[in-house]
Amino acid sequence: MPMRAHVGDQLIVESPTTGATRRDGEIVGIHHADGTPPYDVRWSDSGHVTLVFPGPDAHVHHIGHPSDAAPGASGLRPGAKARASAGPPSDAEVADLVRDAAAAPSMHNAQPWRFRYFRRDRLFQVIADLTRTLPHSDADLRALHLGCGAALMNLRVAAAHTGRRPATRLLPEPDDPTLLAAVSLAGPLGDGDEDGLAALYPAVHARHTSRSPFAETEIPGPVRATLREAAGAEGVSLSFASGWHLRTVLDLASEAEARNLTDQGSVEDLTHWTGLSAETPRSAGEGVPPDAFGPRRRGGKAPVRDFAGGRPVPGRESADFESNPQLALLATPGDEAADWLRAGQAMERVLLTATREGLAGSFITQALEWPDLRWPLRDPVSGAGHVHMVLRLGYGPPGPRTPRRPTRHILDLLT
Ligand SMILES: Cc1cc2nc3c(=O)[nH]c(=O)nc-3n(C[C@H](O)[C@H](O)[C@H](O)COP(=O)(O)O)c2cc1C
Repeated sequence: MPMRAHVGDQLIVESPTTGATRRDGEIVGIHHADGTPPYDVRWSDSGHVTLVFPGPDAHVHHIGHPSDAAPGASGLRPGAKARASAGPPSDAEVADLVRDAAAAPSMHNAQPWRFRYFRRDRLFQVIADLTRTLPHSDADLRALHLGCGAALMNLRVAAAHTGRRPATRLLPEPDDPTLLAAVSLAGPLGDGDEDGLAALYPAVHARHTSRSPFAETEIPGPVRATLREAAGAEGVSLSFASGWHLRTVLDLASEAEARNLTDQGSVEDLTHWTGLSAETPRSAGEGVPPDAFGPRRRGGKAPVRDFAGGRPVPGRESADFESNPQLALLATPGDEAADWLRAGQAMERVLLTATREGLAGSFITQALEWPDLRWPLRDPVSGAGHVHMVLRLGYGPPGPRTPRRPTRHILDLLT
């Protein structure tokens, strides 16, 4: 029987003579939908991730799925087990919840969020940090709302993981557009996880943006359906582009990437958040570090943003990307702040679900930054939805961890 694994399983290599464990590591990426090798393995002794074609001295220890050999099913450690009862969280637990929220993706890793926690009311507020905007690439603050929506989703997932039911209100103060959401820890979750949020918890810190080439392996229909359901649970539609629509999306991304390279404002935003600008150096807890740029594209059609902006980066290699990228578009009928927050939550819910399914993902937002290129992105079949995000999904290596600001810089604890 061929070897099969899920992301999160353990690969154990034994000594052929003594049977003792020689080396072990966590499987952090699979390349085939059916879970067969090769795997990306993070070795416990070195912490490095390497591509492994397991030999006869290796076996897979299934974590959380002892009898589950079905391909495409989640392979991450079960997250539904509550870490605490549903009593009031301690300050340390509140800080943990905010750390989980801040693991969310944000454009250029600007992390444009702050959190307030009111102890007496057991209430979080998610606040837009307007000192961390991208003035040229995100003048209308749509991307800021998407990132904060993603952080809100992580907060809901993390609260459910601790056994607490998160009750969320978007934009609770119409007079204060920076107050994006209120989340009250309304009560115990109960025995079930009806919303399916707690089960996503193990993916919160396993999800990273991967700007590496993906395999040509097609994402199976049932997995696509699961991803569509994840977006639908947040009131957002997810559609995979195909045929001439896919070609249009790829052409629009290429056109936008070419414009961005020569657009003064886009270049300024990029150089600031990548630390490639001498005037405004990036601080250690933010931005996109060079080891997250991924290889330079030599061939293939995946329109991955070049964070180096065409500059040479020491040690950066070139690679052929997939020639049939699998791109999924998130859209809503409206285009207001509440729609952006819903789309951000859906985006993160899709990415967490994708991580559980062993998929890697990255973002293709170049065309969304140009109003004349954003409109023709929309799905011609589903009609006039406003596209908020284009995700590239597939089987490939997980991206590297990127920095985050310390929790004490983004959390205010109040009575
Ligand atoms: C609204 C939004 C737009 C983004 N646009 C791009 C993009 O065009 N290209 C890209 O490679 N990454 C993009 N990203 C990913 C961020 O660069 C990434 O989330 C950030 O660097 C943090 O890294 P992580 O996702 O690995 O945690 C975007 C993320 C968000 C939320």
